[in-house]
Amino acid sequence: MAADPPTPAPPHLMWGGRFAGGPSEALDALNRSLGVDHRLWPQDVAASRAWAHALGRAGVLAADEEGLILIGLDRVAERLADGAALGAPDEDVHTLVERLLFEEIGDLAGKLHTGRSRNDQVATDLRLWTLEALDQLDADLAVLGATLVGRAREGIDILLPGYTHSQRAQPVRWAYALIAHAWPLVRDRQRLADARRRVAELPLGSGALAGSGFAVDRVLLKEALGFRAISPHALDATGDRDFVAEVLFVLALLATHLSRLGAEIVLYSTAEFGFVRLADAYSTGSSLLPQKRNPDVFELARAKAARLTGDLVALLGTLKGVQAGYSKDFQEDKALLFDAVDTLGLVLPAVTGAIATMTVDATKMQAALDPSLRATDLADLLVDAGVPFRASHGIVGRLVREAERLGVPLDAVPEGAAAAIHPDLPDALRALGDWNDSVERRATPGGSARASVQAQLLELQHLFVDSLRVD
Ligand code: ARG
Repeated sequence: MAADPPTPAPPHLMWGGRFAGGPSEALDALNRSLGVDHRLWPQDVAASRAWAHALGRAGVLAADEEGLILIGLDRVAERLADGAALGAPDEDVHTLVERLLFEEIGDLAGKLHTGRSRNDQVATDLRLWTLEALDQLDADLAVLGATLVGRAREGIDILLPGYTHSQRAQPVRWAYALIAHAWPLVRDRQRLADARRRVAELPLGSGALAGSGFAVDRVLLKEALGFRAISPHALDATGDRDFVAEVLFVLALLATHLSRLGAEIVLYSTAEFGFVRLADAYSTGSSLLPQKRNPDVFELARAKAARLTGDLVALLGTLKGVQAGYSKDFQEDKALLFDAVDTLGLVLPAVTGAIATMTVDATKMQAALDPSLRATDLADLLVDAGVPFRASHGIVGRLVREAERLGVPLDAVPEGAAAAIHPDLPDALRALGDWNDSVERRATPGGSARASVQAQLLELQHLFVDSLRVD
């Protein structure tokens, strides 16, 4: 097969010098990342401004040169804000910003890349972008958490069955069931804050792999760009995408939490349960079935967790086996990270809105409380009467069987039949009290008794209002 004829090198290519011609169309199509990374332009411009200043301080740029570059970068930012990236022919966002700077200030633009590589540049840009994304996600999460807490407050005296194995187990408060989904979000926020500390390490000044050949002040760069620390090793820093992996894990787990909340609400919104009803604004209809009222928000929340898990797995697969330092493999990180952040940017507000506006049917919840849910209370009451728990468990088990045989609720087994199983059973049955007594029996910290739930609500309120961020 004949070799492709050499194509002339485009004028703005960053690396054309050593080649006889430009890249083939096929390579260009594969290699170009502008379609994905164009959204890093604000970070690329900000990091370039800081870099120009650092070059000025290091004596690489004269004061007037630094000034002109900064003015040029301002104009570049204006053009990009006006959509200059749209349909641009450049390889990536860094090439694009540099070309636009050339157009604004001419050959002086060529001095900006002194001592810098796209390797430390892209790592810096992406970390800057990630810091902003984390802050936005944290704020969205706080709103969802506060919404759950608000709805829980209203539901403190509503009782319903608590489930394990999707089987009715013991009565709990609706508030308690709801905030079971708020505590995972607290941990998500802690993980975001923890990941944030490591995202906020500055790679700029690492050069391509071995450090910069010019005496730039990396601490000054760190301060200017709002990073917490400077990276300790240039080869590691340019080849490090751990921060992307960490963030993707935190987001995948967060999405998993939303999917579990979603699964529960989908179940509770069925006609069979009828515990909640989604507002019209958060329900969808069916094209064929006029009566349908579908919980798409929560079904999509459930499904998107798979997608975020995929982003994480794809990134880990990309990193595996790549030797230290930058390899082009890393270019694939951005599509994955952007996808995860964008997806949650859609899911979180929708879930929050649907939770905020759903109505709760306390009567249906109460009606689902079956007397068999008192079995543990009965066993506990027998313990109070001196029966060892292992024995009381068996005794109540026999009472359950007897109730089933007679076709009556657990608390309606005739006294004689109960006494025949164990002499203390009739007293225990009389001491059972109502549903509220049942819930109030479990007053350990973290339990479903009113005081315990109220203490949790206070703490959650505090956690979702105060920032957990530690820089
Ligand atoms: N577009 C590239 C990326 O996203 C920028 C870094 C390119 N570096 C290089 N040595 N070719 O990873």
